[in-house]
Amino acid sequence: MERLDSLNCAFCSTGSTMTNKIRTLTGITTSGTPHLGNYVGAIRPAIEASRREDVESFYFLADYHALIKCEDPARIARSRLEIAATWLALGLDTDRAFFYRQSDITEIPELTWLLTCVTSKGLLNRSHAYKAAVDRNVADNEDDDAGITAGLFMYPVLMAADILIFNAHRVPVGRDQIQHIEMARDIGQRFNHLYGDAYRAVARTEADPFVLPEAVTDDNVATLPGLDGRKMSKSYNNTIPLWLSAKDLKKAILGIVTDSRAPGEAKETEGSNLFAIYQAFASPAESAAMRHAFADGIAWGEAKQKLFERIDAELAEPRDKYNALMGKPDEIEDRLLAGAKKARERSAPFVAALRESVGLSSRVTAAGHAPKRVQALSGNAAPPQWKRYREKDGLFYFKLVDGEGALLLQSQGFGRPDEVGLVIAELMLMGGHFPHVGAATLAMEGRVEICAETEAVRNALVTLAEIEKEKRAAKEVQP
Ligand code: TRP
Repeated sequence: MERLDSLNCAFCSTGSTMTNKIRTLTGITTSGTPHLGNYVGAIRPAIEASRREDVESFYFLADYHALIKCEDPARIARSRLEIAATWLALGLDTDRAFFYRQSDITEIPELTWLLTCVTSKGLLNRSHAYKAAVDRNVADNEDDDAGITAGLFMYPVLMAADILIFNAHRVPVGRDQIQHIEMARDIGQRFNHLYGDAYRAVARTEADPFVLPEAVTDDNVATLPGLDGRKMSKSYNNTIPLWLSAKDLKKAILGIVTDSRAPGEAKETEGSNLFAIYQAFASPAESAAMRHAFADGIAWGEAKQKLFERIDAELAEPRDKYNALMGKPDEIEDRLLAGAKKARERSAPFVAALRESVGLSSRVTAAGHAPKRVQALSGNAAPPQWKRYREKDGLFYFKLVDGEGALLLQSQGFGRPDEVGLVIAELMLMGGHFPHVGAATLAMEGRVEICAETEAVRNALVTLAEIEKEKRAAKEVQP
């Protein structure tokens, strides 16, 4: 990794987000469950980097990007929660770092449009991800663009907005993402060229609107091999999920493929996936000891036991924190909303200046009436309510009741409180579509009993969603 302190500090006064620090930013697409490869390759180094005094870190859940790959609302909701809980449980200091959801920063889609209008279509035609999709269609004798959404095509512009909106200098990413950072530079440069003077007049600055970001790929962080020795990746189905219980972690580790050398026979560390995984968790001294043990013919079973113990020592404490957080989705939500508020203190004034620079100035903001609306929505009647409780059987339950206390939905018992939170989240997602929204309907089956007219449930869900939305709008930073 290029050393951050070698950077020329002329960078630091660019844009309206003026500060003396180097800004590092990266996004995590919320379409899956974190695994050990994500932890070693991205999360652990990012959290370490965020502790540096001379760096400002922006880490966010790229949930708009997730929609491009995944059309299952329940899976998106679950992944957002899991990934947020992961970063928090692993000790990301959110007082220091900016930690937020992409979809909570309403200026990101706004900026996306401003950037879309300066992006040449030809640039997007050359995107690897789009070209690969076209190539597959051609190979299958399909129409070039069969099954390709405009979302996939526009992916690089949304990503450019993510990066440019906070004027990030450095973007740590995997090699597959380098082209996207180059496109963000191109798009940013084009905007600077077209609107730089206007922006300087509006913002009374000498600087360009956008910093041109650089991709940072870290060669020191090894890519972790998976169970079968290929790179650990969801697409190879060879991952070890990060938050398995100790028992399941051990089971997964026993599944790591090794050669057939017997106990007592010397073993190779070179090319051994077991050794590579061990090394990613161990100190240099521990790795050296393991190297000796390999030469001395340690049995594979024993080596796996040692690997398990090493990983478990690192993850046991954060695992408890993770499980506790997953049981309190409201707390996760609060921290994400606080993160969004802090991030929007930067993005809102910046995008306001950008809008003005392109000729879209406005003195009228959408500010202000939120609290009144909440009242109006629920009128004099009390709003519907979720009730969560625990029964003597030790299981966790919830029900939905309307303003008069009439029962609308009754859940079955769940083993863990976070399951209650997730089902409620799924129901909230269904909203006015209850009880149908794609795969979420299936997930609901057998878990909730409908105790009233579907229409009544639907109305209650819509009211709750509106109240939630209004509350959120009330909290938002005004540009
Ligand atoms: N596209 C990135 C990935 O799939 C995720 C991402 C979205 C991102 N926006 C970003 C990464 C901005 C860095 C900066 O890995």
